[in-house]
Amino acid sequence: AAPAREQFSGQYGFLMSAIGSAVGLGNIWRFPGVAYTNGGGAFLIPYLVALLTAGIPILMLDYALGHRYRGSAPAVFRRLGKKFEFVGWLQVAVCVVIMSYYVVVLAWAASYVGFSTTVAWGDDPAGFFTGEYLNVSDPAFTLQLDWAVFWPVVVLWVLVFAVMAGRVSRGLELVNKFAIPALLLMFLTLVVRALFLPGALEGLNAFFTPDWAALANPAVWVAAYTQIFFSLSVAFGIMLTYSSYLKARSNMVPTGLVAAFANSSFELLAGFGVFATLGYMAHTQGVAVADLDSIAGVTLSFITFPQVIGTMPGGPLFGIMFFGSLLLAGFTSLVSILEVIVAAVREKFALSRPAAVGLVIGAGAIGSVVLFSTTNGLNALDIVDAFANNIGILTGAVLECIVVVFLARKLRELQLHLNQVSTLRLGDWWRWAVGILNPIVLLYVLVVTVFRYATVGYDPASYPASFNALFGWGTVVFILAVAAVATAMTWRTPVDRFTPV
Ligand code: PHE
Ligand code: NA
Repeated sequence: AAPAREQFSGQYGFLMSAIGSAVGLGNIWRFPGVAYTNGGGAFLIPYLVALLTAGIPILMLDYALGHRYRGSAPAVFRRLGKKFEFVGWLQVAVCVVIMSYYVVVLAWAASYVGFSTTVAWGDDPAGFFTGEYLNVSDPAFTLQLDWAVFWPVVVLWVLVFAVMAGRVSRGLELVNKFAIPALLLMFLTLVVRALFLPGALEGLNAFFTPDWAALANPAVWVAAYTQIFFSLSVAFGIMLTYSSYLKARSNMVPTGLVAAFANSSFELLAGFGVFATLGYMAHTQGVAVADLDSIAGVTLSFITFPQVIGTMPGGPLFGIMFFGSLLLAGFTSLVSILEVIVAAVREKFALSRPAAVGLVIGAGAIGSVVLFSTTNGLNALDIVDAFANNIGILTGAVLECIVVVFLARKLRELQLHLNQVSTLRLGDWWRWAVGILNPIVLLYVLVVTVFRYATVGYDPASYPASFNALFGWGTVVFILAVAAVATAMTWRTPVDRFTPV
């Protein structure tokens, strides 16, 4: 028999968990760099457009689906129509890929909390990160383990198990209730400190100076949509799974808006903090911010920041707080990714929660160790991240819209459902956004990306075509294969005996 559905203890726990999922590594190491390289201040326009026309409407769609059809992603899509189960598993499979490298970045952050105390990288943070710590080799497939990464990865998986094996309300809800306020406090302190560094203002100027010409570049719009999807954690099955744990009458529309704006505010805050710090760095080196070489992604957090930490007064404390923030923000996101998979596996195979958690973590642990804790982890991770996000999530999002709108024709029903349980009503614009605008825009973004990866490749300057094929297209094949196999297996719970709430 199906286990009774678990529940959040209340709206506040749900909100903290929704924010915990949304606010993650993407806010801190992705957003500032993406914004800077895509028009600076001008990027805020495509970003806001993507947030309002795609991010928030699809967030609401996720909520409505999970809450009305009360299940994991595969169960919900199956309840929309038997042949749509595959779409749910597709979203689950994307989560499988993401969890296995996301945990590795968290492991790096954990290590760097420790390294900060003694400024272990000395005056060569770049050499330390890729050499001494990661032992990065030339792009190729290696099975050479890096023990310095392996151990923190193992510790993190154990911690995640401890949190996830307990019921939702005692496990992930409780962690989020403490972690999110703590994160906010720590990160605010960090940003305020950064704003008082000499040169901070020049950093902010560099960040916000608008390059209006960027608005005419389709790549900038593509970047904005991708950032919004990843950052809000929509169309991954996450918000769908979380909202399936809400009580039957829950006020979802305003809660969703609060979560979305909290995430964007955190992102902007990170932009301030990061660029104030970069301004300080440029100032001490006597160069312009634009001439600093690594402003984006992994290098920003693990090379550029350590450099600053080494030179500023109170650096070690600053470092502990910076990497501590990464760790907290990322941990609560990791838990949410895992819950998507756990819920799906549990429902399909009628497993207890600890059994499902053990199974999923076992699989995730193998992937994260074999592929990403090796001397090629950094390179592999970069490519897998690009393909999983830019192709995987977008495909999930496009299919979600198409199934709901055109195949199952549930859009109107879901709008009524949301409006029935919420104090704020969704207008008809929502149906236009989800039904017309999004399928067109997302399909366009997806096609452009697939075409670019298939012809030019992802970052051909850094990776040979064979490496791109192995890790990039390999990821796509893996996602499709996992989804197909899981769909073909037999349900052990009575998934089809169900009437919408
Ligand atoms: N939204 C998270 C972030 O900004 C990332 C994430 C992606 C979390 C997918 C869960 C699932 O970092
Ligand atoms: Na985010």
